[in-house]
Amino acid sequence: MRIAGIDVSEVVEEFGTPTYLLDMDRVRENFLRLDKALNCPHTIAYAYKANHEPELVRMLSSLGSGATVPSGYGVMLARWAGVPPEKVVLVGPSPSRGDLAEAADYGVTVSLESESEARALRDVGGTSVMVRVNPGLGAGAHPSLVTAGPGTKFGLPPERALSLLRSLKGEMNTRGFHTHVGSQIMSVEPFISALEVLRSLVEQFGGVEVLDLGGGLGIPYGGSGEFPLGEYAEIVCGASKELGVHIFVESGRYIVGDAGYLIARVNYVKEVGGRKWILLDAGMNDLLRPALYGAKHRILVDSEGPEEKVLIAGPVCESADFFGEYDLPRVREGDLVVIADVGAYGFSMASRYNLRPLPAVVALEGGGYRLLRERENFGRAIFG
Ligand code: LLP
Repeated sequence: MRIAGIDVSEVVEEFGTPTYLLDMDRVRENFLRLDKALNCPHTIAYAYKANHEPELVRMLSSLGSGATVPSGYGVMLARWAGVPPEKVVLVGPSPSRGDLAEAADYGVTVSLESESEARALRDVGGTSVMVRVNPGLGAGAHPSLVTAGPGTKFGLPPERALSLLRSLKGEMNTRGFHTHVGSQIMSVEPFISALEVLRSLVEQFGGVEVLDLGGGLGIPYGGSGEFPLGEYAEIVCGASKELGVHIFVESGRYIVGDAGYLIARVNYVKEVGGRKWILLDAGMNDLLRPALYGAKHRILVDSEGPEEKVLIAGPVCESADFFGEYDLPRVREGDLVVIADVGAYGFSMASRYNLRPLPAVVALEGGGYRLLRERENFGRAIFG
């Protein structure tokens, strides 16, 4: 099987399985497509939590990307990657003093989620802020991916967000308002509704420099229909023009999602009760999305011929370690299986559960490949 012109079995011979592949050319393409579509003053502040592979974020930085980071280490990585502080946003529901101090030290913008956080930031000398608005409506492909609306821990209701930003005017650089309504969104409606709320806040505040619309742009995951990028850009840039604001877009998945592949080997094929199990050497510890959200990823195999129903699972001692039911041509023990669209929230959510090492990561670029991250050995995985 070939991915981005590379023979996967060659990579696997060298680095083993499970291994993540990251198509850097695809990442660049995705970034530039989004960048070009946004025909107004903007910053794409790539969401590092989707995939924080250092070479990846440095490449994005060289293309002009900013960074949305959830922690102090995120600030340090953006700094290392050469992202200028004015293009970095630290945002999360509960940053520690240490996280905020790191942000203050590099002079990045903090999107505040509470009045107490504003006090904590003041204590560590931070001066550049936005306020995260919870517009009272959320969106996303799964309840766990919804990050706004009543009952979520994120941001502040519009009126309180407005009061907080007002209260900091004069004391801090009050850059603007921020919102992130959810993830894996495939239509523009949630963004339109969120913009309605933000527009009114900007007007009441008397104008701001920045409107940060968060991320959330979805990818097809093998289903039909692309994210309506043209429509999104039109709406976002319409608001930019109307309100005279610089737009921040904190996309993660859209930039890296379809650039990642997880290569696994079939350890066993087992028939029980008339059902056929394909048991891989990659599991929920390597890719958590199916277990956590019931996410179904495309699976690619080399074999050909008539398809049969199979259940695909991993080696972890949990029933949730299950990738789903698939129709595939006959797969045999020892075959390679490729799980696609895992560039976002794949390796970044991997763990060592069941005493397993974090997998290797290999970059594909310009028809060649190179190791980005070695598979952990016993010492690293177990003793730290
Ligand atoms: N900005 C903020 C404040 C966020 O919390 C997130 C993601 C993003 C931007 C980027 O969102 P994106 O463009 O990637 O949708 N683990 C889940 C996704 C959780 C997203 C968390 N926040 C998954 O595997 O689908």
